[in-house]
Amino acid sequence: MTSVPKLLKPVEKGSDPLLALAVLISGRGSNLQAILDAIADGRVRARVSVVVSNRAEAPGLQRAAAAGIETLVLPHRDAPNRAAYDELLVGALQARGVTLVCLAGFMRLLGPRFCDAFPQAILNVHPSLLPAFPGVDAQRQALEAGVRVSGATVHFVTLELDAGPVILQAAVPVQADDTVESLSARILAEEHRILPQAVQWVIEGRCHLENGRVVLR
Ligand code: GRF
Repeated sequence: MTSVPKLLKPVEKGSDPLLALAVLISGRGSNLQAILDAIADGRVRARVSVVVSNRAEAPGLQRAAAAGIETLVLPHRDAPNRAAYDELLVGALQARGVTLVCLAGFMRLLGPRFCDAFPQAILNVHPSLLPAFPGVDAQRQALEAGVRVSGATVHFVTLELDAGPVILQAAVPVQADDTVESLSARILAEEHRILPQAVQWVIEGRCHLENGRVVLR
């Protein structure tokens, strides 16, 4: 049995300093906002130390700035290869004392260097009930497959795309007249609910890995 994540110290209520979280984004940043809102009203006991985007035009950067959080733009094209980009990211996060990383719409694959630097301390949110519909356009994939139920997943990140141990899922019924937009909107509402919840569970040390699965305690 492995305690997840090993590097995190449980945060006692009222203790200071709080655990340092990094949120990585590429776009709108509504999941980042959900985390910020949850921190603001005490549902998540952490502080966001830095928000990193690989795209300078990501609207989510404005949300971070509005909350007074440091933003960092690290364009992946500036790095000669994936390993070098990982190195850049790891350096930036470690320099800020980050121990927990949240991928919230971050559209880059992370390699071994990054995953090894934050063992069992990287979370991702995905708009389907994994392992169904990994990769891009998950909501469109669900509609095209004709499933009656889709949803949202928060999972630990491994080297395999959208395939790490599941922490929390929420089901969303697919309606007969759903479009990609309408289904995405209902799934997104669930993402905003389960991502902060999963972050807090990890912070509290409630997630344990047994045989590659997350067991909650
Ligand atoms: C979300 O649907 C997330 O699951 C997916 O990308 C989208 C990001 O949305 N990986 P936002 O930037 O958090 O608004």
